[in-house]
Amino acid sequence: MDFNKSDFGENFIWGAAQASYQTEGAWNTDGKGMSVWDKFSQTKGNIERNENGNTATDFYHKYKEDLLLLKSMNFKHFRFSLSWSRIFPKGTGEINQKGVEFYHKVIDKCLEVEIIPWVTIYHWDHPQILEVQGGWTNRKMVDWFSEYTDFVSKEYGFKVKNWMILNEPLSFTVNGYMLGTMAPGKKGVTNFRKAVHHANLCQAEGGRIVRKNVPVANIGTTHFTSFIEGQTNKDTKAAERMDALINRIFIEPSLGMGYPEDKLHFLKTMKKFMLPGDIEKMKFNFDFIGLQYYFRTVVKKSPFVPFVWAKEVTAKQRGVEANEMNGEVYPEGFYQLMKRFSSYEGVKKIIITENGSCFNDVIDNNKIPDNERIEYFKSHLSEILRIQKENIKIDGYFVWSLTDNFEWEKGFRPRFGLVYVDYNNLKRYIKKSGLWFKELLK
Ligand code: BGC
Repeated sequence: MDFNKSDFGENFIWGAAQASYQTEGAWNTDGKGMSVWDKFSQTKGNIERNENGNTATDFYHKYKEDLLLLKSMNFKHFRFSLSWSRIFPKGTGEINQKGVEFYHKVIDKCLEVEIIPWVTIYHWDHPQILEVQGGWTNRKMVDWFSEYTDFVSKEYGFKVKNWMILNEPLSFTVNGYMLGTMAPGKKGVTNFRKAVHHANLCQAEGGRIVRKNVPVANIGTTHFTSFIEGQTNKDTKAAERMDALINRIFIEPSLGMGYPEDKLHFLKTMKKFMLPGDIEKMKFNFDFIGLQYYFRTVVKKSPFVPFVWAKEVTAKQRGVEANEMNGEVYPEGFYQLMKRFSSYEGVKKIIITENGSCFNDVIDNNKIPDNERIEYFKSHLSEILRIQKENIKIDGYFVWSLTDNFEWEKGFRPRFGLVYVDYNNLKRYIKKSGLWFKELLK
């Protein structure tokens, strides 16, 4: 081992993360309503091999086993999300008591085995019934989301201190409302702009609601990040535009800076969807921001991609080392992004709420020798130590993910877990990387 747990500081938070739709299964059990992800993945042609999350890893029934696995690897923190349609099957109004109970059981089990729960309020699976009314493209989302957030923070707030309002708003707005590759499968820049604006409003409003209901709460929200570079010097401006799109359109409004129109001119048209006072309403004094980092993105200028006028040059096209999802393994980018986000005035704390990689894991005599993943963790954790030496504080690190799970439109193929799941019988096996953490964190 190249470093010890103590190098990161005594109070450093070590955890693993997961999300409701990717793990729970039980898609229509005990009164749960349909979510956009149920609808999208049950529709033929949307997901690789037509897989769906109907059963996923069956966390709904196996949560105790999974929490004990987490504990056995010496982690002390667990990040998971709530399924909105399990609690409000109709989106708003009537509560499904059995759904509410499920999360009490998960939280209680965490507390019983001395694992600290970190709750993400929204990780992409809103009720389908709200999508029929436009979902994130409808400004009413702010009222719907407020009702949901108000309920869950009052219900669980006396047991849960750590809250994250949204998971990667960039991912669900780009993929779900512009490109149509993820639920709800909508396309077009108008849908995208509306979804972005309403997500920004909810991000801050959610923060205010949790603050009111849980005064002692530690409140954050999480951001997808990627280190963006131009392929050549001629592509610098293209890289700046892509960077504004990927790294700035949710953090900057939350800090009261508005949209990054300076680099991405089409954002000037956001005004069409804004009401007086919205710049102020998008602002919230978060206790921390969650950074989620996976890979670097290299771009070149392109006249064929409207609005950003930039196009990705994939890892494969460049012939560099990549994971199963064609993401380039690039720890230096992780360092650069931590540095950059920490320099925003108004960012109080940074927690890495997701980092990890998918490789083609195979079982060998009941063992999974995922050495590449261990190297990935080592190289990325080293960047945290490097930045801490420069007196930039990073408060914690959550591995994505506790177990292998349903990787959205890619189905079960990409495996991110510290724990391997055999999808034939849902048996779990701790991978070598999980054992590596066990040793590190002992
Ligand atoms: C998401 C996860 C996803 C992971 C790996 C993140 O963008 O929050 O839900 O599984 O990346 O692709």
